[in-house]
Amino acid sequence: MKRNIIITGGAGFIGSHVVRLFVNKYPDYHIINVDKLTYAGNLANLADIENKPNYTFIKADICDFDRMLELIRQHNVDGIIHLAAESHVDRSIKDPFTFAKTNVMGTLSLLQAAKVHWESLPEKYEGKRFYHISTDEVYGALELTNPEGIESPFTTTASSKEHHHAYGSEFFLETTKYNPHSPYSASKASSDHFVRAYHDTYGMPTIVTNCSNNYGPYQFPEKLIPLFINNIRHRKPLPVYGKGENVRDWLYVVDHARAIDLIFHKGNVAETYNIGGFNEWKNIDIIKVVIRTVDRLLGNPEGHSDELITYVTDRAGHDLRYAIDSRKLQKELGWEPSLQFEEGIEKTVRWYLDNQAWMDNITSGEYERYYDDMYKNR
Ligand code: NAD
Ligand code: DAU
Repeated sequence: MKRNIIITGGAGFIGSHVVRLFVNKYPDYHIINVDKLTYAGNLANLADIENKPNYTFIKADICDFDRMLELIRQHNVDGIIHLAAESHVDRSIKDPFTFAKTNVMGTLSLLQAAKVHWESLPEKYEGKRFYHISTDEVYGALELTNPEGIESPFTTTASSKEHHHAYGSEFFLETTKYNPHSPYSASKASSDHFVRAYHDTYGMPTIVTNCSNNYGPYQFPEKLIPLFINNIRHRKPLPVYGKGENVRDWLYVVDHARAIDLIFHKGNVAETYNIGGFNEWKNIDIIKVVIRTVDRLLGNPEGHSDELITYVTDRAGHDLRYAIDSRKLQKELGWEPSLQFEEGIEKTVRWYLDNQAWMDNITSGEYERYYDDMYKNR
């Protein structure tokens, strides 16, 4: 079947994995990557597929309604997978306006452009899909009722085999009330509400998914794992916020992309699906895994980089624990991640060490200013 699909934010971390998967797996689909190429967008993430005949890149801003309408019309788009966003919590604390603009107004302009075009067609919304990628952060934060960790009651194949902990008895369900705390999560929550409103008001076939923390190749080194790998390589301090006790649920990015593929094709309209690996880690524990893996792969003696750990001022409003319950997706659509955590983290660290040119290109100039501004007074 032929389809014309816009993927927004396809030059970013997760978007580039989604674009790659769709371009390679569906030669009959025309995949149109719409990305503004902000600091986080990088066409080098897609060098391996850029010349494929079913792929087009378009540099455009999702906030530009006229341009979005023109693109959707011109390419007769029948599916939109929307990932473009400002994605880093620390930046949202310094500059909330940009987050409201891109995440809220950008999503709204894309929704409205799709509505105008699809409603102008004889078949209207039939065969159309607007799929919005959201985050577990919209649900707020969970308590750390088991600070030492108990055996997790649930697993996926992504769960760690060595470290199988849950740090509380509660998990985020698709029905959990929204309770965002950071400007980032408030902007994502708002965009999720707009997407659902377009279904409820106009009948647009929408889907929303909320995923936990992703890790893997091509992640911008403002995020914990690539930032720490890069700092270890340069023998720079590793800035651990607060006591390092915050808990995140980590999923390998390709498994998120596989879930997006499955849900785009088989998910039910107007539904929400949570995506996560049942793979909870305290920051300090995952940091130790990263340090151990980098040291081993660089041939350093065990414990060589432990001295770089530096406790710094906590993130304002730092959410304590995120833990996604993804059993609905497992049961209803049969999703299972492909990689166990130990395999995923090994692949990830290896990728960053093998692709130092990719990292060096990003971490010069503007990034140095960002780093100073974010970390010098912590
Ligand atoms: P990212 O910051 O790596 O990439 C974002 C991309 O969006 C970049 O390519 C950027 O150029 C583009 N973009 C930004 N503003 C734009 C605009 N106005 N118009 C067009 N393009 C624009 O982000 P990511 O980590 O890949 O996250 C992608 C999506 O997934 C986001 O919506 C994010 O909220 C969501 N998400 C991320 C995670 C995670 O762990 N990274 C987890 C769950 C959900
Ligand atoms: O949960 C999904 C979310 O995961 C996504 O919606 C966001 O787009 C994505 O950025 C990510 O948000 P986090 O804030 O959890 O990711 P980050 O990598 O910034 O931080 C992970 C944890 O590590 C968090 O508790 C803060 C801590 N941290 C982070 C950095 C950058 C540190 O201790 N030191 C650091 O330097």
